[in-house]
Amino acid sequence: MNVLVTGGAGYIGSHACQRLVRDGHTVVALDSLDRGHREPMALLGADDPESLLTFVEGTVGDRQLVSRLLAEHAIDTVMHFAALAYVGESVDDPMRYYRTNVEAGVALVDACVDAPAVTRFIFSSSCATYGDPPEGMVPVPESCPQVPTSPYGRTKLMLEDVLRDTARACAQSSRDLRVAMLRYFNVAGSDRSGTLGEDHTPETHLIPVAIHAAMGKRDHMSIFGTDYPTADGTCVRDYVHVEDLIDAHVRVAERLESAPTEPLAYNVGIGLGYSVREVLDAVKRVSGVEFEVREAPRRTGDAVALYAEPAKIQAELGWHAQVTDLDEIVASAWRWMSAHPAGYAGA
Ligand code: UFG
Repeated sequence: MNVLVTGGAGYIGSHACQRLVRDGHTVVALDSLDRGHREPMALLGADDPESLLTFVEGTVGDRQLVSRLLAEHAIDTVMHFAALAYVGESVDDPMRYYRTNVEAGVALVDACVDAPAVTRFIFSSSCATYGDPPEGMVPVPESCPQVPTSPYGRTKLMLEDVLRDTARACAQSSRDLRVAMLRYFNVAGSDRSGTLGEDHTPETHLIPVAIHAAMGKRDHMSIFGTDYPTADGTCVRDYVHVEDLIDAHVRVAERLESAPTEPLAYNVGIGLGYSVREVLDAVKRVSGVEFEVREAPRRTGDAVALYAEPAKIQAELGWHAQVTDLDEIVASAWRWMSAHPAGYAGA
C-alpha cells in the first residue's frame, strides 16, 4: 500500500507509521506538529532518503498540499488520525475543534475524492460519538445510538456522516472509494520495542497522569468522581493497547480491498471495563510507587461506564485484542515514560 497517515507524528499516528513501514508499505506522514513531535519521525527513519517513511509538515486542511502529496506518492490508502482529542478542551473552545476536526477533515475527504488512486479511507472515530449509552447498551455495540455529549464527540460524528454520504455518492457515480470508521475506546500503552511513546502537552489522560504521579512529576493525582453507580464508585473505561488498535487498522485496510461499498464501522476496544481505582492500583503495582491519590468532584462530560462490545470486529476482521491485562497495558506505558522523563524532548 501507499499510505497517507495524517497526524503521523502524533501518539497513535506514529504507531501506525511504525507498523506500516515494518510491513513493507510506503508511508507519507503528514503532521502540523501542533501536538505531534518530530522525534518519532526521526526515530522511525524519516530522515533517511532510502526509508519507506516520508515526513511532511503541514495541515490536512491545506487542500493544495494534500492533493500534491496524494498525486506525487500515488497514495491508495488514507488513514486519518489528525485531530484534536480532549473532551474538556472541546467544551471550552468548540470552534477550534470544529475547524480542526470537521473543516480540515472535509477538505481532506474532498481532496481524496478528487484523487482517483485513493480507494480506501480509514477514519479515527471515537466511542465519544455514543455519548452516555442508554441502559442495556454497555458493553456498547456499534448499533448503539450515536448521541455525543461533547463538541469533540460531535466533530467525530460529523466526519462519520461526511464519509457515509461521500461513500454513497461515490458508489453511485462508480468512483471506487471505500470507507471504514474505527470507533476507539481508551487507547493506552506504547510499542513493545520501546521506540515510541505517549507524550502529550497538556496531559490529561488517566494512565499517563498517574504515571507522572508515580514518577514524581506531579505531587498527587485526583480521581474525578467517587460517587458513580459503579462497583467502586469510579468511572469505568475500556483500555485498548495502541499496537492492537493499529492492528485493527491494518486488518480493516485489507478488508476494504474486497469490501462492499457500504461504509464499515467497528468498535475497537478489549470488551472489558476497568475502573479508575483499578487503573491507579495497577500503576502503583507496576511502578512500585505509592503516590498520593485525592478524591475530587466529577469532571463535566464524563460518561459513567464505557466499554466495547467487540463482537463485530472479531467476527468480520478476526481482530482480537492481544493485550487485555491491565498491568500489561500499564507496564508498556510505564516502560517508555519512566525511561523518557522529559518525553520526546529528552529522547
Ligand atoms: N480521570 C481521573 N483523573 C485524572 C484523569 C482522568 O479520575 O487525572 C478519570 C476520568 O474522569 C475518566 C477516566 O479517568 O473517568 C478516563 O479519563 P481519560 O481522560 O483518560 O479518558 P476519557 O475516557 O475521558 O477520554 C477518552 C479519550 C477521548 C475519547 C473519550 C471517549 O481520550 O479521546 O475517551 O469517552 F473521546
